[in-house]
Amino acid sequence: MSKPKILVVRAIFAEVIARLDQHFEVESNQNDESWSRAELIEHMQGKEGAFTTGGDRIDAELLAACPQLRICANMAVGFNNFDIKAMTAAGVLATNAPDVLTETTADFGFALLMATARRITESEHFLRAGKWNKWSYDMFAGSDIHGATLGILGMGRIGQGIAKRGAHGFGMKVIYHNRSRLDAALEAECKAGYVSKEVLLKTADHLVLVLPYSPASHHSIGAAELALMKPTATLVNIARGGIVDDAALAIALCNRTIAAAGLDVFEGEPALHPGLLTVPNVVLTPHIASATLPTRLAMASLAARNLIEFFAGNRPPTPLNPEVLVLK
Ligand code: GLV
Repeated sequence: MSKPKILVVRAIFAEVIARLDQHFEVESNQNDESWSRAELIEHMQGKEGAFTTGGDRIDAELLAACPQLRICANMAVGFNNFDIKAMTAAGVLATNAPDVLTETTADFGFALLMATARRITESEHFLRAGKWNKWSYDMFAGSDIHGATLGILGMGRIGQGIAKRGAHGFGMKVIYHNRSRLDAALEAECKAGYVSKEVLLKTADHLVLVLPYSPASHHSIGAAELALMKPTATLVNIARGGIVDDAALAIALCNRTIAAAGLDVFEGEPALHPGLLTVPNVVLTPHIASATLPTRLAMASLAARNLIEFFAGNRPPTPLNPEVLVLK
């Protein structure tokens, strides 16, 4: 019996490709060539499955051009690159890669918060530029993490991981806002108190964004929200580009209406708003919150499992639109 044909859109671990090879006829982009949209559609021709990453847009146009496609397995927890409605209408299963990256991403969120509040990269640039020639009492004075109020917008698994680090590790007071309130046991575990978005913005010394991107969460933090924050506050975005209005943030950082920001995600990435590159009080990283090799391998392996189980006629571990599944 011939094996189903799949496309692996970006380079991934050789061991994952080897595993996929056992089940599928695999075309993979192991040279990691940059494909245009038209090239992606061309490579997708004849493929029943696709192993995608968060940058690969799967929408009605692509689905119409690739009618044989039956599943797209994203190697990311976020899936705003998928038009789920269009995929469901086309009978195409979407899967993501949750859970396996939670702790790694929460670690990174905390690292970015620490680097931002304590001005680590800004002071390193100063040192590397040979400008350190004397001590001064307020040189690169930042703001404290321990004992401060940590605000979290979006209290899913990663938000909870950050809350626990803050509350248990650094004695922070944790407040959060989320579409739905956590149950009492989970709030107690995270030592986190539920507040309105307005109170969160006005009260947090450090605000970490961990909410999923959707049209409803677009520009959740814009000029009006930034204006509510304390002038001493730091803002950390490990959620998605588009959650923050980057142009408004660049102005707030330039005018010091907030103290600093740490950003791992950007509107229109890998491009950056030019205003973010000229202000010193921002720490910038290239969307690496889940980037440790064990975690990336776990994410890739989960995406591969979704493909393998689907074509074996079983329920894949992490379906996003299970209503399209017709199981054996
Ligand atoms: C990373 O941003 C992910 O969604 O996994």
